Amino acid sequence: MCEKCKGNFYITTPIYYPSAKLHIGHSYCTVATDAMARYKRMQGYHVLFLTGTDEHGQKIEDKASEAGVTPKQFVDDIVTGERGVLDLWKLMNISYDRFIRTTDDYHVEAVQKIFRKMYENGDIYKGTYKGKYCKPCESFWTESQLVDGKCPDCGREVQDAEEEAYFFRLSKYADRIRDLLENTDFLEPRSRVNEMINNFIKPGLEDLCVSRTSFTWGVPVDFDPGHVVYVWIDALFNYMTALGFQNDKYHDLEEFWPADVHFVGKEIVRFHSIIWPAMLMSLDLPLPKKVFGHGWLNFNGEKMSKSRGNVVDPYILAEHFGVDALRFFLLRSFPFGSDGNFTNEMLISTINCDLANDLGNLVSRTVAMAQKYFGEHLPAQQLEDPEKDAELVTMLRELRGKYEEQMEHYAFQNALSEIFKVISRANKYIDENMPWVLAKSEENKPRLARVLYNLLESIRICGGLLAPFMPDTSAEIAKRLGDARMDWESLGQYGVLSAEVATVNGPALFPRIDMEKELQALEEMNKTQTAEEADPLPEPLPEIAFDVFEKVEMTVVKVLACEKVKKSDKLLKFTLNDGTKEPRQILSGVAKYYAPEDLVGKTLVAVTNLAPRKMMGQLSCGMLLSAERGDKLNLVMLDDSVPAGSRLV
Ligand code: MSP
Repeated sequence: MCEKCKGNFYITTPIYYPSAKLHIGHSYCTVATDAMARYKRMQGYHVLFLTGTDEHGQKIEDKASEAGVTPKQFVDDIVTGERGVLDLWKLMNISYDRFIRTTDDYHVEAVQKIFRKMYENGDIYKGTYKGKYCKPCESFWTESQLVDGKCPDCGREVQDAEEEAYFFRLSKYADRIRDLLENTDFLEPRSRVNEMINNFIKPGLEDLCVSRTSFTWGVPVDFDPGHVVYVWIDALFNYMTALGFQNDKYHDLEEFWPADVHFVGKEIVRFHSIIWPAMLMSLDLPLPKKVFGHGWLNFNGEKMSKSRGNVVDPYILAEHFGVDALRFFLLRSFPFGSDGNFTNEMLISTINCDLANDLGNLVSRTVAMAQKYFGEHLPAQQLEDPEKDAELVTMLRELRGKYEEQMEHYAFQNALSEIFKVISRANKYIDENMPWVLAKSEENKPRLARVLYNLLESIRICGGLLAPFMPDTSAEIAKRLGDARMDWESLGQYGVLSAEVATVNGPALFPRIDMEKELQALEEMNKTQTAEEADPLPEPLPEIAFDVFEKVEMTVVKVLACEKVKKSDKLLKFTLNDGTKEPRQILSGVAKYYAPEDLVGKTLVAVTNLAPRKMMGQLSCGMLLSAERGDKLNLVMLDDSVPAGSRLV
């Protein structure tokens, strides 16, 4: 730790499954973690913010094989590929300090050592697994844990499973875990403790199956080939291997373990508040100080998931509304510990009310007035009016403390409310003091200067405290106030801005959004996206040798005549010039897509060495090439300058 630092602070997000591209729900936790990390840095802590990807498991193995690539290629594409996880965090301005991939060698080797240690100390033993398995969640369940016979987490069907496997003695730690949950603040919010006690502890903790033999994409158990480590064991230890536990890549354990807080979504609280501490107890390691289980964002009242087709693409949202507005919306609109319902209407109205009207107007009006009435600098001669200024100034003096109290409890929404109370008060202060009236007489100039100073000081403090949520906007605000101080100490004090502050003009921070127009534009984009999803690419065909391809004769042909085939809705009869003296007849199923008269004279491509065959009583000598996707079809047409009889090679 550096000498000037207040202390160390280690904060983590769950590491993401790169089984599909992330949606806005996934960004929720990462944006919250980023806000917390930035807040702690601002306070003077030496912060380590860890995020990453959880890349093993059967689901990924299956998806890769569907896509015809190796699991590593599959995850590489989603993690490091274009618009992948890394790109998304860059776009969202996520200031993580370390990124772990569970396929990184150092992590894999460390997990092997950890598994062996628990085997050697007797907490992992070999047995036979019989039970239920939820493939999408990669979770094992006992009969009693199922809800209506289905996975208690996602509600989907579970499969019977029986195989030789290793088990972790979770049952041994049941009492200590119960004590941890009930008698400490380890898990928050408190409602999550009740969920854990009622759903998992009271029914009795059973030993946990921690290895699999039915697939190979995982960390191999090095002393028993054929077994791979259960993906959750592999994943949870990321929080420590990323600091150097059981590896030499990093050396930060002493400084940063135990973690100050793990932020996790509510459906994975079980893993973090029961299994994770039990494993740490088994290894006699310190437990993280806190696990915070946040709520889920739904979209228009439904669960957000790609498979349900209501994904909210963070790229589209960020491009439309701006990254800061999106980050702000996520933390301003929903209490962090509860579920929230994301709608585009709500996003736009939050941007319009809080950002365009309240914050944006306060900044642009104040800066514009300062420049209009005084030019570059405010004058040093200023006149206080204790009565008129008292309320705003007191609020400014108290704001940092109130904000801090909320932030320390991860109550982002409340912290932002405190800031916006001051912003509203400042806007009201403009109306009460009517600077445009004061500006009319020279005698009132000192009072006018003080009014504007108080407003600029309000903007400085609010803008500074907004930095963890909207880092770019906060930096822009500092610039508009002539590179004002926004360090933590200065944000707790009124009067830091120099009296002769020089302001800088600029465009509106958040232009108002036309709700109807924007909703329509988003809907159009969703339609295009859904249409693309509904027409997936066809399955690739097996490879062929070049000499097989060479045997196909593809010839350029010109349409001499074209007509409908009687009694057929599908077929058109083509009379074609194929470069020989004899016209060639081909029947093609394109009647739904073309009027026959439109095709006369066109230059097409035909396979001309196909064995002739009869269709609707007429002979077809070859096949016209066309391009098909979903319900669209286009004949392959060439430039008319290409002569009939040319070969395609
Ligand atoms: N790989 C595990 C975590 C392992 S941590 C040792 C995992 N990954 S995940 O990609 O499925 O989810 C990552 C996080 O995103 C989880 O905390 C999950 O709760 C969160 N969310 C996924 N969808 C969400 C919403 N719709 N809303 C809020 N958070 C959501 O779980």
